[in-house]
Amino acid sequence: MKKFKAFSIGFVVLFSIVPCFAQQKTIAAKVEALLAKMTLEEKVGQMNQLNGDWEATGPITKDVGNKLEEIKQGKVGSVLNIMGTNHTRAFQEAAMQSRLKIPLLFGQDVIHGYSITFPIPLAEAASWDLAAMERSARVAATEAAAAGIHWTFAPMVDIARDPRWGRVMEGAGEDTYLGSLIAKARVKGFQGKGLGNIDAVMACVKHFAAYGAAIGGRDYNSVDMSRRTLWETYLPPFKAALDAGAATFMNSFNDLNGTPATGSSYLQRDILKGKWGFKGFVVSDWNSVGEMIPHGFVKDNYEAAEVAIKAGNDMDMESRAYIGNLAKLVRDGRVSISLVNEAVKRILTTKFEMGLFDDPYKYINPTREKATMNRPENIEAARDMGRKSIVLLKNEKNILPLSKNIQSIALIGPLVKEKWYLKGAWSTDVDPNDNVVSIYEGIQKQAPGAKIYYAEGCKIKDSIATDFKEAVEAAKKADVVVMAVGEDIFMTGEARSKADIHIPGVQEDLIKAVVATGKPVVVLLMAGRPMIFNWTADHAPAIVYTWWLGSQMGNAVADVLFGNYNPAGKLPITFPRSEGQIPIYYNHLNTGRPAQGDNDRFYRSSYIDLPNTPQYAFGYGLSYTTFAYSNISISKTAIKKNESLTVSFDLQNTGTVAGEEIAQLYIRDMVARPLRPVKELKGFKKVMLAPGETKHISFTINKEKLAFYNNNLERITQPGEFKLMIGAASNNIKLEKSFQLTN
Ligand code: NOJ
Repeated sequence: MKKFKAFSIGFVVLFSIVPCFAQQKTIAAKVEALLAKMTLEEKVGQMNQLNGDWEATGPITKDVGNKLEEIKQGKVGSVLNIMGTNHTRAFQEAAMQSRLKIPLLFGQDVIHGYSITFPIPLAEAASWDLAAMERSARVAATEAAAAGIHWTFAPMVDIARDPRWGRVMEGAGEDTYLGSLIAKARVKGFQGKGLGNIDAVMACVKHFAAYGAAIGGRDYNSVDMSRRTLWETYLPPFKAALDAGAATFMNSFNDLNGTPATGSSYLQRDILKGKWGFKGFVVSDWNSVGEMIPHGFVKDNYEAAEVAIKAGNDMDMESRAYIGNLAKLVRDGRVSISLVNEAVKRILTTKFEMGLFDDPYKYINPTREKATMNRPENIEAARDMGRKSIVLLKNEKNILPLSKNIQSIALIGPLVKEKWYLKGAWSTDVDPNDNVVSIYEGIQKQAPGAKIYYAEGCKIKDSIATDFKEAVEAAKKADVVVMAVGEDIFMTGEARSKADIHIPGVQEDLIKAVVATGKPVVVLLMAGRPMIFNWTADHAPAIVYTWWLGSQMGNAVADVLFGNYNPAGKLPITFPRSEGQIPIYYNHLNTGRPAQGDNDRFYRSSYIDLPNTPQYAFGYGLSYTTFAYSNISISKTAIKKNESLTVSFDLQNTGTVAGEEIAQLYIRDMVARPLRPVKELKGFKKVMLAPGETKHISFTINKEKLAFYNNNLERITQPGEFKLMIGAASNNIKLEKSFQLTN
């Protein structure tokens, strides 16, 4: 009986693996068979990606030909920036007129939603809610796939410690541990049940690598970092995304220690395709093959193509360096045909896996497209993701939540009635403003009985402060004031780095004038990055950081303002007091002369004109309730390298309303070579608690949580003392325990 059971389990396991293995085998065989039929030019064609008929997301290469004609000639393998089944159909029909009828792959930056816009990725990261982020990516993929798109250029997993960098909005913030988990969740969301399913889009993990560390936060700038920092801080989210099954990678615009990433065989061949065994394909960033010329790395496109393919870049986005030079490079004996074959095989494999050879029009069904967009349950998911992303920074005297029976509200600021900006950069604009809920509308809906006094106050970029008469009058008439201020949609995103990240224009003067009325003022801060707003932080009674939350922003914000949702977001990135503190991040080294507090400056590692501490720390965020941490215990005070221990504690909701706390675990390796940071996030739990309720929470500490890279890039642990810190933020540690790691 036992034997039979073992046999049958083995049979079932084997049976469930076999189809997948068999399918892979047939795909490999099909790819080989197709490759054997292809001319060199057709192979190079597969490696060429061109911009479609939607807006170009980079400078168009000069020699634009007739794209449909080029497709018919088999000179194009993929098209980006093309949306909607009517557009993709025309292009796919052209591909079906090529000699070998190889279907095109359609790629698009579906970064945070397609028709329904979700919060910008940095905002979503503030939710620390992996399931919700996976769902957000799932909705985006479902809509995009129904619009004919096979491939999203997301997730962006670049660790970013510099809020001046405009693309900070596209990632998960500054932390490697949190960023890795989010990378995984997003890949799972985009790819759903796997390539081949009708609602799955291929993920493209970007930008490989270290793009987020551009010097001075200036986009496209150089990156100079040790290989240890690269491995320790910047690569793990990429590896996590790969482990989650990401189908493709995109390299990056920056040079890393003097080598453009697109031309880096260290990154693409040694690490990605070598050590990590990545089987999918690598696409360049927009013209990043050609941009190796201005970098000064190659002299022309001929050399650029040679360097890029040798380095492991499989597809060329928009530089036309491959289509113009690769065949000649092979004929000239400079590039081996085996390199071309390898790249083409990788690309064709994904096309087979997507099922495009079975049906090139698989994703092109206008009926499905119409039925899939803007489904009510998905709109609701966007609203939920929106409120989960909000971070309550300050709430003096519990001004918030507002009473639903409030008599009058003054709504003041240039973003109160705004719609389009609320979507944030990298929204697809498939569905224009009409489906966006403004702050005004959201609030009005939830306080239908309240009299609303509205004043714009100023424009976002106004540079001359006035007496803000109209705004002040509106504030004086109302019981409470809600202000909506911040950046505009063009201030974050690609090529939108800023040297000055204060709230733009005279908006902080407007806040001062309104706060001076003595009315209870709630300031909603909207942006795609951390802004600097020191006066507001010190004087406004309530501050809510709302980022850009997408189509449902007005509803999500109103849910929080009126207490229908108790905010639980925590900052995924540090908020500086001044640009002069940047880069500023919580997991720094201690130095030999650490400052003990903000006034400890005498021969200390500090500024004489500013504290070292940020305005708001990584992991910070308030709730409408309060939480108490107590009773920490550890299961062992010493462990060997391969053992684990558990740290547990009690978390209690000590307030009067239900709420969620994101309890965070930080670890410090007290003595190590090389040095270890003052603390590193190694675990978190988002816990819902009813008023008065206590839950017992535990984290497991194992080798993986204690390991780090040494200067030989080996991942090691070192014996000695480790401190465990449990807290509500990186700067708000509530409980501590130490243990020894022994030999
Ligand atoms: C350039 C950006 O860096 C990249 O993230 C994006 O996917 C491509 N353009 C295509 O739009």
